[in-house]
Amino acid sequence: MKLSAKMTKALNDQIAMEAFASNYYLSMASWSQITGYEGTASLFYAQSDEERMHMLKIVKFLNDLGVTVVIPAVKQPPKDFKSIEGICKIALKNEQAVTASINKIVELAQKEKDHSTFTFLQWFVDEQVQEETKFETILQKFELIGRDKLALNEIDKILGTMAATPEPAAN
Ligand code: FEO
Repeated sequence: MKLSAKMTKALNDQIAMEAFASNYYLSMASWSQITGYEGTASLFYAQSDEERMHMLKIVKFLNDLGVTVVIPAVKQPPKDFKSIEGICKIALKNEQAVTASINKIVELAQKEKDHSTFTFLQWFVDEQVQEETKFETILQKFELIGRDKLALNEIDKILGTMAATPEPAAN
């Protein structure tokens, strides 16, 4: 099977998006750790690893088709953040952008009648539902528990528990 030039570019662009998300979440993890939010740091270190795994999935898919991938340059993410809530808002926005991007590639696969890429992308479609739900659920906690110091301590603990809960395995 041969990928179209358009699809090859779309998947390479998606690799760059996942790589940048991995770096961004790593920066958030580092800020959280330095600020004393251990649970949040654990969650974002794990999230950063997840994004790298997403990137690798696409790299391997392309390699299996004989395509040499474009490994993107490292773009520096911001390093200063305001709060756990602020970080989670950025993360939700980022996940929404990733969902939109994946949906566009799915539409391209449909248009090109590229069934194998279409099937490959279904894992990402499902994953994005989980990713958005994860950050929506976290953001609800600020409404439910509050934003004072005790509440933030409680939310940080919850995020640590979420980090310790294994994600479904990816193939
Ligand atoms: Fe790979 Fe969280 O999107």
